[in-house]
Amino acid sequence: MELDFDNILKQLSAAGIHSPRLEARLLLEKAPDEKTLKQMLQERLKHKPLDKILGQKEFYKYAFKVNTDVLSPRPDTETLVEAAIEIIKNQNIQNVLELGVGSGCILLSVLAEFAHLKGVGIDISKPALRVAAENVASLKLEERCQLLEADWTTGSQLPEKFDLVISNPPYIPTAEISLLDSEVRCYDPQIALDGGKDGLMCYRQISSLAPKIINDAGFLILEAGIHQADDIVQIVQMQGLALIAIKKDLSGIKRCIIFQKKDCNR
Ligand SMILES: C[S@@+](CC[C@H](N)C(=O)[O-])C[C@H]1O[C@@H](n2cnc3c(N)ncnc32)[C@H](O)[C@@H]1O
Repeated sequence: MELDFDNILKQLSAAGIHSPRLEARLLLEKAPDEKTLKQMLQERLKHKPLDKILGQKEFYKYAFKVNTDVLSPRPDTETLVEAAIEIIKNQNIQNVLELGVGSGCILLSVLAEFAHLKGVGIDISKPALRVAAENVASLKLEERCQLLEADWTTGSQLPEKFDLVISNPPYIPTAEISLLDSEVRCYDPQIALDGGKDGLMCYRQISSLAPKIINDAGFLILEAGIHQADDIVQIVQMQGLALIAIKKDLSGIKRCIIFQKKDCNR
């Protein structure tokens, strides 16, 4: 039987998919032929996330390539992009570093807004960097964006200091990963989720590196998980960075924390 909208909608609804209408439309729009449409629908009915089936996810202004090697970009993370753009518009920011670049959604969205800006994205995951490189190419940002395999617990491989450092680090407490929805737990990489025992391990690592890699008067923007913002502020302030602002996402969660390196002796 040929699949049509109503038929797909019925099957998605019966499987408990949250936005069956939207997803039915997207499947029909994106599947190149009937055979692929059937395969995609079967995968979705087994709760593989739609973006991992389609191989792309809309984020900020662009569609980013994604697969199971990268975290699927989340709408909440657009709060960081907006914060970075506001800072770059108002300050003398020449270069930006993203720690844990994943698909590249944050760094590339920011770079695409400013023709003068140069960027470096690091990640510990080689497969994730391959996805980021494809996104760099599709946005034609090769000349202004460098990707490096590096570990932020060392930071020694970084070629220079930066006016702006951004990161959305893994922040799920290890014991809570098994409780996550299977669409996250089974299809986003563990290395992109696991924030250690209390979820704050990566913030400790990044905040101890930050003063060494941020130029004087430069900025650090961090994404926070739910209820983590106050702890993160404390952790980062202990490294001598000053809190500038906390921005909430569309659900009212303190999602984006902005710091500035004001101590010029470091
Ligand atoms: C939560 S994901 C964020 C991905 C992307 N920036 C986004 O917002 O969608 C965190 C990323 O940090 C990377 N990562 C984890 N530990 C790292 C480390 N020690 N050094 C460098 N990257 C790391 C992971 O591979 C993953 O791509």
